[in-house]
Amino acid sequence: MAFENLEESLRQKEYIQKMQEYVEAETEKIGRALTYHIETFGCQMNAKDSEKFAGILQEIGYQEEADEEKADFILYNTCTVRENANMKVYGRLGQLNYIRKTQNPHMVLALCGCMMQEPDEVQTVREKYPFVKIVFGTHNIFKLAELLYRSTQEKGMIIDVWEGTDEIVEDLPALRKYPFKSGVNIMYGCNNFCSYCIVPYVRGRERSREPEDILSEIRRLADEGVKEVMLLGQNVNSYGKNLNQPVTFSELLKEVEKIDGIERIRFMTSHPKDLSDELIETMGASKKVCTHFHLPMQSGSNRILKEMNRHYTREKYLEIVEKLRKAVPDISITTDIIVGFPGETEEDFCDTLDMVRRVRFDSAFTFIYSKRTGTPAAKMENQVPEAEVKDRFDRLLSLVQSIGQETSGRDVGRTLPVLVEEINHQDQTLVSGRLSNNTVVHFPGCEAMIGRIVNVKLKESHGFYYLGECTEA
Ligand code: 5AD
Ligand code: SF4
Repeated sequence: MAFENLEESLRQKEYIQKMQEYVEAETEKIGRALTYHIETFGCQMNAKDSEKFAGILQEIGYQEEADEEKADFILYNTCTVRENANMKVYGRLGQLNYIRKTQNPHMVLALCGCMMQEPDEVQTVREKYPFVKIVFGTHNIFKLAELLYRSTQEKGMIIDVWEGTDEIVEDLPALRKYPFKSGVNIMYGCNNFCSYCIVPYVRGRERSREPEDILSEIRRLADEGVKEVMLLGQNVNSYGKNLNQPVTFSELLKEVEKIDGIERIRFMTSHPKDLSDELIETMGASKKVCTHFHLPMQSGSNRILKEMNRHYTREKYLEIVEKLRKAVPDISITTDIIVGFPGETEEDFCDTLDMVRRVRFDSAFTFIYSKRTGTPAAKMENQVPEAEVKDRFDRLLSLVQSIGQETSGRDVGRTLPVLVEEINHQDQTLVSGRLSNNTVVHFPGCEAMIGRIVNVKLKESHGFYYLGECTEA
């Protein structure tokens, strides 16, 4: 059971105050505001955590600096799901050290996130990147102000990584990237131990937040003008199972639906093994839950799914897809697929291609299997040769893309609601937003439309986006 620790959030507020005094004094001394830059790697969870960091830093008095090389405080929120994410961080650290030495000696560097939960990575940072000032992990992100304060008082690298926690500390400032939509954590961690995945080791055991805490956060967001919420968890379908008074994810969704002002509800991520008929029914009846379902399949081979410890079969997956499409006819289904899991044969891979053809995913994130030390799959002997994996990856990608292209134009001619997100980056006369099924739409519009849901006639399909025309005055 997890509990929200109010005492700790009060303690952190004291550190925020101490840092405010420090930043004020520094600003006076150097004659300009202190700045921060956050670089976020990985998933929606990290993006959400970064909003919390930004909130704390702004409260302290730091101003955002888009150019990381100029910032006084740089925070890398890292990901370790696949190895290339780690390599990216080390590459950038090398560059930053050069900038620090030649142009910006006051630069303070901090690393946090999933990669820092791995002792070997922390050891590498300690040995090869001694200029990094603060290292912390995923379980104590609320301590940023305290760690910053310590960095002003202490010499050397400050390392504060917890192995796990049963605490949830919320109620600290957070800055939202968009005023009209927000992620909301409903649970932390993962208990599934898919054999390739490092997440359960770096994000810890599953902890659900109490429904009342979640709902009051969403009510507050709605009061502030938020129209769309994304409920976040590694496996939202098992939400609430380990609460003192168990609640299902579907029950939670029904409660969120009742909140005035919230017009769209999304969630991420789902696990097929825990996806209930009750949830499908709730989605079918809902006016607010979006018509998009991201349902990671990982592989289409029953043998590989078993080796991956996924606890479902291709038949079960197809059955869920069928039920979802029946309950929500417009639904867009997307997925994650891994290629080259240890022992994957050509036959297994063909099963994956076959599933892609049967389900006809609207889009799919395709990944080359990455060996993560400490996971059961890393010890499996029959790792697939690189050239073979690459060849399969290319074949999968081209199939996914060609099916995506065939399905992508299916709503041309319809008029559908779009939540307008921003002025188009390439053409300032256009605005960009998303349909309920998450597809991007560009259409002529202006700044005043941002944050509103407007009806748009979809005129042309361009693969991953539509061009349209607003039908409202
Ligand atoms: N190698 C490749 N892809 C992975 N993923 C998770 N772990 C690995 C790994 N070791 C993918 C899964 C998951 C997505 C977030 O990342 O497809 O759904
Ligand atoms: Fe990783 Fe599986 Fe948990 Fe997703 S459900 S985070 S893939 S262990």
